[in-house]
Amino acid sequence: MPEFDIAIRGGQVATGFGTARCDLGIRAGRIAALAERIDGAAQVIEADGLLVLPGGVDTHCHIEQPEANGTVHESDFVSASASAFAGGTTTGICFIPQFKGAGILDRFADYRARAAKGMLDHGFHQIIADATEEVIEREVPQVVAAGIRSLKVFLTYEPLHLSDRDYIRVLLAARKHGCLVTVHCENYEAIDWRTRALIDAGMTAPKYHAWSRPPVVEREATHRAIALAELVDQPIQVFHVSCEEAAEEIARAQARGLKVWGETCPQYVTLTAADMDRPGFEGAKFMCSPAPRDADEHARIWDRIRRGTLDVVSSDHCGYSFGGTLGKAQNGRDAPFRDIPNGIPGLAARLPIIFSEGVSKGRITLEQFVALTSTNPARLMGLAPRKGTIQPGADADLALWDPRRKVTITNALMQHAIDYTPYEGLEVTGWPVMTIRRGEVVMRDGKVQAEPGSGQYLPRGPYDLVRPRGVTPNGFMPA
Ligand code: URP
Ligand code: ZN
Ligand code: ZN
Repeated sequence: MPEFDIAIRGGQVATGFGTARCDLGIRAGRIAALAERIDGAAQVIEADGLLVLPGGVDTHCHIEQPEANGTVHESDFVSASASAFAGGTTTGICFIPQFKGAGILDRFADYRARAAKGMLDHGFHQIIADATEEVIEREVPQVVAAGIRSLKVFLTYEPLHLSDRDYIRVLLAARKHGCLVTVHCENYEAIDWRTRALIDAGMTAPKYHAWSRPPVVEREATHRAIALAELVDQPIQVFHVSCEEAAEEIARAQARGLKVWGETCPQYVTLTAADMDRPGFEGAKFMCSPAPRDADEHARIWDRIRRGTLDVVSSDHCGYSFGGTLGKAQNGRDAPFRDIPNGIPGLAARLPIIFSEGVSKGRITLEQFVALTSTNPARLMGLAPRKGTIQPGADADLALWDPRRKVTITNALMQHAIDYTPYEGLEVTGWPVMTIRRGEVVMRDGKVQAEPGSGQYLPRGPYDLVRPRGVTPNGFMPA
């Protein structure tokens, strides 16, 4: 009987902490050994000339997410899992919705059943859009007991945004139950005012999406989200930071010792507001919130990544097609920007873009790449050390990566059952040639082979990183 199920031979093994040329032994779906030479395996995978990376951990993806109007995002868990594997990602954290006037428990069961049909190992954030006493006092403890350790709030979007008072309620609930709070930081009232004014003035094309939400509304909400979290002594992660003004607020909080983390996404280092000014309805392909900025802002985001202000890069994958009846054109191709759904697909593109723009272009090291896309998100969400690293005992989730392969991104390569990618035509250097999930080869040379329903739910328990600091104004914390 061979000692290992798989040996991966001769690759350059990279974790968030260092890189070494060695062999890997996999047994029963886990990393069992790292050594100069591993013999005695049932299957040998030669990785000469390849990087062996921990599978990507994407802690911000909207997959098969039900909407308040009764529809569901077009990319389901099977196609989204295939897309993730095609791009080297093996774990995702998705969002259980809450709709105003309803609770969260019925959605939990429904969404868990949807996710169970996919192949991606998965956990959930719980969106709180209606912070009623029933939800906060009785339902949140139940979803925490079921393995959810992050509550997601929006400071913008009709009908999701929370008042400051309700945001504080969520922060307090998270503090009580040992959860992280993740925050979409844009000022709802300011955006609503500008949006109405733009539409009244006949400025309705997709490019005015960016005009409706300039960096100042992101900076203001980021400042407020952090200040209120400081008041309550609750750790938060600021989602999808698009600009230096918001990143500066995070850096200031971090310098004061607050537990505030910042996430950004590939779109904020590649896409620009000018993309939304393409002819006709084409600009809708690039509409997401916050809005893409410009090349100078890309450089500043890279700087914040290098300095550690922004330590996670997620996709914020959103399964809206361009032409389908549930996608960007759901309200017609002449719809004003306000009525075009926000969000872009990006599960498969995330790692290749950040590797290429980051490592291949010399902006970050290989170790930083692994930390940003796998190790840090796993740690921040309480999934470490099972996910996000290559060490004995961790799940054998791996991406075998050809750092020299040049690829032009096309929609077909994304394998996501969506009719477009906003990254069409982008040239990248570095590409995953094999993805392994818990010791099973689930993608080889672009061919995804995984059984629907084989993804595992990842219940999360208490973890130290999100423990409050114990510092409140005047030392006073209401019961
Ligand atoms: O435009 C975006 N980002 N759509 C997805 C929902 C969100 O705000 O994260
Ligand atoms: Zn958001
Ligand atoms: Zn999102």
